[in-house]
Amino acid sequence: MMRQAGRYLPEYLALRATARDFLDFCLTPAKATEATLQPIRRFGFDAAILFSDILIVPLALGQSVSFVEGEGPRLDPLDGAGDLAKLGDVLANDVVAPVYEAAARVRAALGPETSLIGFCGAPFTVASYMIAGRGTPDQAPARLAAYRDPAFVAALIERLVRVSVDHLAAQVDAGADVVQIFDSWAGVLPPAAFDALCVRPTKGLVAGLRARAPHVKIIAFARASGGNLARYMREVGADAYGLDTDVDIAHARRAAGDAVVTQGNLDPLALLAGGAALDAGVDRVLADVAGAPHVFNLGHGVLPPTPVGHVERLVRRVRGNAR
Ligand code: CP3
Repeated sequence: MMRQAGRYLPEYLALRATARDFLDFCLTPAKATEATLQPIRRFGFDAAILFSDILIVPLALGQSVSFVEGEGPRLDPLDGAGDLAKLGDVLANDVVAPVYEAAARVRAALGPETSLIGFCGAPFTVASYMIAGRGTPDQAPARLAAYRDPAFVAALIERLVRVSVDHLAAQVDAGADVVQIFDSWAGVLPPAAFDALCVRPTKGLVAGLRARAPHVKIIAFARASGGNLARYMREVGADAYGLDTDVDIAHARRAAGDAVVTQGNLDPLALLAGGAALDAGVDRVLADVAGAPHVFNLGHGVLPPTPVGHVERLVRRVRGNAR
């Protein structure tokens, strides 16, 4: 499941209660390791996704980042090239080292049958938090900045591409077998901006990582990207593409060329609902992929009120029915 640790698991809530705050939790290797392993122990998934956050990157560039309980992330917003100049040019090692230590501990704890997925946010998604200072419904502050001050936004994106290559390569060195690039806000971009801020930077990130870690598998996920998705899948150069719930898998596969590997698509709300709705959702995805290479997954993260029994039911149904 993309984003499979979290508040729907009682053992996660218990572990979370031992941390000072969410960032302290992410940056304490023993705790991040345990949070990564919890869903594997419970459900036996094929892959673990490292417990961390995409906003570790701005933190490691020197921006102030905090998580407000019940509200989400808060950053000191970047207002232009002057603010960017105050940030680091590379990730501060003392900030990111615990992430790589957690990756190494997880890899050592997992059996050879279980893959470890490392990740980062895509440049636009990370930039949108850095500019707005928070999540907003449409990330308008970052999109407006790209119109008003394109040189600033281009410089920020360029820096994020570079440091994200470093961040992913270090996770691979520590033991990640696969990495995923989350462009959670790609869906707010009109086509021209989608090319400049999503497709081109992600393509650069993929190429940069391939040069450093040729063996690693790369999954790219441009959430809710609608009419822009086919171009993304044709141009980015990843090994597999995450699909949100708004996509028809067969249509996306045809538009991108049949050789493509897909992932995701099951509605997290169907998982929350459970019962017949969940079974129908699982069967629908399996029918849509019909033997083509697909990583069974949700279209987005597990929602906090999801009953654990629903996840068990999903795993049973997929393992029982997938070819
Ligand atoms: O299995 C996993 O969950 C892997 C670890 C993971 C987290 N965040 C942990 C987390 C991953 C892959 C992410 C990615 C991430 N973080 C994204 C991209 C993917 C997506 O979901 O779109 C984004 C946009 C973020 C930034 C972020 N982190 C936000 C907006 C929030 C607050 C939202 C909320 O529900 O409170 C977080 C917090 C966060 N990151 C949680 C977890 C488990 C919840 C924290 C908690 O325990 O309260």
